[in-house]
Amino acid sequence: MVFFEECPVTERLKFDYDKVLIRLKCMKIHEYSEPGQFIEIKIPDGNDPLLRRPFSIADTEKDGVWVIVQQRGRGSKKIAEAEKLDIIGPLGTGFKTTKKSILVGGGSGIAPIIFFYRKYPEVVESVILGFRTMPELNWKGIFSDEKVKIVTEDGSSGLKGLVTDYTTMDSSKIYFACGPTPMMKALKNKISPDRLYFSLESYMGCGTGICMGCAVKKTKGDGYFRVCTEGPVFRADEIEL
Ligand SMILES: Cc1cc2nc3c(=O)[nH]c(=O)nc-3n(C[C@H](O)[C@H](O)[C@H](O)COP(=O)(O)OP(=O)(O)OC[C@H]3O[C@@H](n4cnc5c(N)ncnc54)[C@H](O)[C@@H]3O)c2cc1C
Ligand code: FES
Repeated sequence: MVFFEECPVTERLKFDYDKVLIRLKCMKIHEYSEPGQFIEIKIPDGNDPLLRRPFSIADTEKDGVWVIVQQRGRGSKKIAEAEKLDIIGPLGTGFKTTKKSILVGGGSGIAPIIFFYRKYPEVVESVILGFRTMPELNWKGIFSDEKVKIVTEDGSSGLKGLVTDYTTMDSSKIYFACGPTPMMKALKNKISPDRLYFSLESYMGCGTGICMGCAVKKTKGDGYFRVCTEGPVFRADEIEL
């Protein structure tokens, strides 16, 4: 079920040097959201930017959702500062499993990973989160959790290096990952792709399956998947990165 809502921003927290966490008060979206699903956000009143911007759901609460907004360009900067936002969601395929899982997230890609862990902690064996430098905010105590391993490129906290340096193949586990493309490519080389699921943060146009702006090539045949409607979660052996 998909909802259109105008949501007030009820909290805004600085996460690190280029990311904020925003809490949106919703009527319905939070009740139907699964990890991996996303919302399409637009600034109400005006057409700048014209297209909605997709953001993964980072957590739900009894009357709202959280998203992590990395301020990359015009759209995300305005979204990070807005007092209310026009939302469509939840969109896309979520990720759910009953098998023991290892979760890997990097940069803004930690959003669906945190949501998965908070919603289904019983199936999570461990969580590996990577950052360039340690975030200022230990949001909901996630970094102190015993199952969570932190990796920073500058060694400011946790282990030094890249998340892929500390991810090893365990053929009894399922892997769920989200992050920059080089991270996903490196994971695909280390983890058996039939046990590895990606949540993709591709560029999007319409967000509704019409423009093919989000297309990702299928490994089998000549076709493409649309990340907005057939993803963003795919098994790694189904797609070419
Ligand atoms: C399913 C999905 C989930 C996402 N979840 C999150 C999330 O939880 N948190 C988050 O911060 N972002 C997330 N993104 C990415 C986010 O949608 C883009 O960063 C945002 O749309 C950029 O808009 P902008 O107007 O700020 O940037 P633009 O002005 O359009 O571009 C500014 C710069 O950002 C780069 N850029 C734009 N889009 C992307 C992208 N998708 N990936 C990498 N670089 C990009 C451009 O190349 C350019 O250099 C997600 C994307 C998808 C498809
Ligand atoms: S963004 Fe237009 S088809 Fe996916």
